[in-house]
Amino acid sequence: MTNRGHSEGITMSGGGLYSLATLGAKHVIDAATPMVLDAIASMPQESIANGFTLSDMGTADAGTSLTMVGSVIDAIRQRAPQAPISIVYSDQPRNDFNALIANVYGLGPFETYLDKHENLFPLVSGTTFYKQILPAGTLDVGFSATAMHWMSRKVCNISNHVQAVGAEGEELDRFRAQARQDWRQILLHRAVELKPGGKLVLINFGCDEQGRYLGNTGGVNMFDTFNRIWQSFLEQGRIERHEYENMTLPQYYNTVEEFSAPLTDTSDAVYQAGLRLEHIDTRIVKCPFAESFAEHGDAEKFAEEYIPTIRTWNESIYFNGLSEQRPLEERREIIEDYYGTYRDLVRDNPEGHGMDYVHAYMVISKQA
Ligand SMILES: C[S@@+](CC[C@H](N)C(=O)[O-])C[C@H]1O[C@@H](n2cnc3c(N)ncnc32)[C@H](O)[C@@H]1O
Repeated sequence: MTNRGHSEGITMSGGGLYSLATLGAKHVIDAATPMVLDAIASMPQESIANGFTLSDMGTADAGTSLTMVGSVIDAIRQRAPQAPISIVYSDQPRNDFNALIANVYGLGPFETYLDKHENLFPLVSGTTFYKQILPAGTLDVGFSATAMHWMSRKVCNISNHVQAVGAEGEELDRFRAQARQDWRQILLHRAVELKPGGKLVLINFGCDEQGRYLGNTGGVNMFDTFNRIWQSFLEQGRIERHEYENMTLPQYYNTVEEFSAPLTDTSDAVYQAGLRLEHIDTRIVKCPFAESFAEHGDAEKFAEEYIPTIRTWNESIYFNGLSEQRPLEERREIIEDYYGTYRDLVRDNPEGHGMDYVHAYMVISKQA
């Protein structure tokens, strides 16, 4: 795989489906909103009076952050009624930017903040967060949720699992080393973009102090389930060995120590670029589909609702992992069977399934 700096082969579902299928992601951003508002409250008046820029990196279709962005605008308007406010939405070039435009401009299913205030400038960028997105010294608050676990490239395939959480030995070492480099690269670019005194509020998937991570909070391990189904397809001869290995997801879940290191180690280039860790904590946001199953008890309904949320973020990787020698129809059929198998598994034995989110919530400041 070539490295163009954006996470190749990853695309969230388009057509506005992303925000509809990912209620949990909106809950995560809503829970982070007080942190963003506190970051703004701590900024000196003179730094926002003449203009304020917020970025939302890895925004997908922008639907999940509309409420948060609206709250930021309200907060800035209270302090600086005339200041122009730019909201820079960025994602990878293959993102569905049409869906983003529809959501921000009120053509989608969500209420937008756009008509509520004057002097607002939504801007859109297809630049990866592995590059500089904004001109130097122009960013007040950089925000990102549930995006920076996607690595800049897949450093190798994993021979016995689909995610680094199941990797071992040299393969795990290679993922770790790449993730270490990626996290520093993300931060160094942000250090350039931020105004002195500016802040980052980053809500990233991670591994918490008790070893919990996405879909692994005590019930059935979601990534092991992904792996088990692909392994059964391999055993049945539905896919080839190299296709199984291609299913490796280019992701890594940093621990609190891994997130903190470049911001606390005084010899690190990130620290020397002026970034400081103000706050880090880990939180779990429960899977909304598993929670509503606990109330309604209808396993069929749970399975029908739960699988699409998983599909939004891993279907493109799995599809691209299948051999191009296979006719398109056959590849589509395998993918349908994969999610169908998963759905049946959840329907027949629903207890313990769910995709609880495990995030590190960070506030980082740029030295004034
Ligand atoms: C799970 S979605 C999160 C969307 C939204 N921030 C939220 O929390 O609901 C992850 C997003 O990160 C984007 N992404 C992945 N790698 C990226 C990169 N290198 N640069 C920018 N965006 C990236 C994906 O395209 C996707 O839209």
